[in-house]
This record gives sequence, C-alpha cells and structure tokens, in this order.
Amino acid sequence: MDDLRVGVIGCGRHARSHFEMIAAEPRVRLVAIAELDDGRRAEAEQHLSVPGYSDYRRMLDEQDLDIVHVVTMPAHLKAIVLDCLERDINVSVEKSPGMDSTETQDMADAEATSGARAIVSLNRRYLPEVLAVRRLAREHGGTVNCGAIYNKALSATSERFDSLLPPPIISDAIHHVDLLRWFAGPSEDRASVPTEVYSVVADGPRPVEHRQNAVIRFDTGAIGSIESQYGVGGRIQRAEIHAQDFSAYLDLTKREKKVEMYRSTPDIQPRMVGAQIDEPLDLDAVGGAGFNEVKHFVDCILEDRTPWSNLKDAVITMKLCEAIRSGHKGTLDL
Ligand SMILES: NC(=O)c1ccc[n+]([C@@H]2O[C@H](COP(=O)([O-])OP(=O)(O)OC[C@H]3O[C@@H](n4cnc5c(N)ncnc54)[C@H](O)[C@@H]3O)[C@@H](O)[C@H]2O)c1
Repeated sequence: MDDLRVGVIGCGRHARSHFEMIAAEPRVRLVAIAELDDGRRAEAEQHLSVPGYSDYRRMLDEQDLDIVHVVTMPAHLKAIVLDCLERDINVSVEKSPGMDSTETQDMADAEATSGARAIVSLNRRYLPEVLAVRRLAREHGGTVNCGAIYNKALSATSERFDSLLPPPIISDAIHHVDLLRWFAGPSEDRASVPTEVYSVVADGPRPVEHRQNAVIRFDTGAIGSIESQYGVGGRIQRAEIHAQDFSAYLDLTKREKKVEMYRSTPDIQPRMVGAQIDEPLDLDAVGGAGFNEVKHFVDCILEDRTPWSNLKDAVITMKLCEAIRSGHKGTLDL
C-alpha cells in the first residue's frame, strides 16, 4: 500500500503536535504545508523539507492529498474544512470545531454529502490511559459516575477570545466536557448523550475569568460533573471514572499521565473496604502506548469506518459546552 499523502494547514504553535503524530504513523507521509505567515511558512518548509503554500487552495489543487489537518484558530476552520470536504479530501479538524455548534453542524452537513471523512481533535478520547480505564469500567458493568476538572491561569492570549476563539469552556475545556461524554459512553466506540444539565456560572471580574460548575445526566444513566475555572492558580486537568466496585482517578495535566485505580470485592471479602490496584494498565488491549487520533483516523479511512469523534458527534459536545456556559438548568433535548 502507498502511504497516504498528508497536508497541514496552519503551522502555528499547536501544529508541532500534529507533525509529531504524522511522523510517528508509518502509513502516512507529510507532503506539503500551507501557512499565511511568511516566517512560519519558511520555518516549516525548512524544518519539514516539504513545499509550503500561502494559498491552501493551491495546495489542495496541486498535491493530490488523502488527508488534510486543519490546525488554524476556530474562527478560520469552517471555510477551510468545507473546501476540503467539497474536494472529497479526508480532514482532521482542530478543536473547537468552529466558533459555535451551528458552525460544527454546517461542517457535519458538508461531511454527510462528501465522499470523505472527518475527525475532530477531541484527543482525550484517544489517550491510551483513558481507553484502558474506560474498558475496565465496562468490565465492571459500565460507568455510573464520572468527573472532570479543567482549570487554568488566565491566558496571555485572552484578547483572542470572541474574535478567533469562543469562550474557553468551548474552545479549551471542551476536552474534559467531551471526556465526560466518552467516559459515560455505552460501548467501545460511542459517547453518551446528555439529557439534563445543571450548570452554575460565577465569572470573576477580569476578562475571560470564566468559572463554571455543572452536573450532567447522560442517556446511559451515568452522572457526570465538571469544574472549570479560568483565572485560578494554574493548569490542572484531572478526571475520574466509577463503575460498580471500580474507580480510576487520572491526572492528565502533564505529558506523563498518572492513573490511580481501586477495586472492591464485597462478594468475596465483605469486610474489605476496597484496595488500590497495583497492576499496570493494559495499554496493548486498547491499541498500545502510542495510540492516538491519527492512528485511529488512518484505521477508519482504510477500513471505511466512522471516526469516534466525527463532526456529527462533536455537535453534541459543542451543544453541551454551550449549555454549561449559559448556566442551563434542566433537560437538554439534543
Ligand atoms: N487539541 C489540543 O490539545 C490543542 C492544543 C492547543 C491548541 N489547539 C487548537 O489548535 C488550533 C491552533 O492553535 P495554535 O495555538 O497553533 O494557533 P496559532 O495562531 O499559533 O496558529 C494558527 C496558524 O494558522 C494560520 N492560518 C490561519 N488561517 C490560515 C489559512 N487560511 N491558510 C493557512 N494558514 C492559516 C495562522 O497564520 C497561524 O499561523 C486552535 O484551534 C486551538 O484551539 C488544540
């Protein structure tokens, strides 16, 4: 099989992680990049030894691409994603997928009539540690409860919110809102759908000092809760997942993920209060330590499958983020 030909549009700060994932995947080959900024384009061309384009449409027309990664700010994504899907080019869409759920829906509609597929970079879903604890929860009868914390100090780029980025719960903490849906999902390949949301918003006085806490009921019966504060002490990304007699606590803040797990066996040891599990997580059972969204997307393209974090599914996560941000209380009809 020939390698799949990949192009990247947008070579800013976050593009580096896409370049790393592409370089680590043997079934794909980066063949071109597009970037508006002359300095960034020249640097990427030199560093990656591929041709660079200032006009991404010329790259799409000339390079016979199988996959395009769009790594621009959310405000710039939609037009580019639509151009790729119109040309039947598979597209990887950064989060947030557009400025609001209407834009995500527009992209999902375009995918529905395209001969190509799209994946949204809701990348917490693809962390091997997340997949492994989710699998264990399913072995214990399914998730009954999950929680997430996503806190940050105030961003130096806060002036980009409104014009280039939607509010941070949508453009950033979306990762852990989506993680709750994923943790509460009914099967290996599906996320849950929220049916009720009770959100309390209590912003601070500084710009983008957004603070929100929400409890969510999912269609699987699981309950999730999220705490997301901007303008606090620092960047913390934690999560937990609980099933009958099983709990896992994950610290996803740094590259090196930490997982603590507990199991109780009341049938065998009724007096036992539960013990910490000291076996390592079985990452091989979920695609291995190097599994990520790029590997999943390539699998889906080659096997004609729908990616887990497709655009239609991302509309639900976007609507949930919007409900949390608006302080929604009550049922959510998605
Ligand atoms: N998944 C994650 O964990 C994660 C982490 C950080 C950032 N992100 C997302 O990645 C995206 C990019 O973030 P960033 O920090 O790299 O932003 P950035 O502003 O540093 O880079 C975006 C680049 O896109 C370029 N661009 C915009 N329109 C273009 C066009 N029409 N043609 C070619 N290039 C174009 C800009 O010139 C810029 O260099 C954002 O959507 C952000 O939310 C995701």
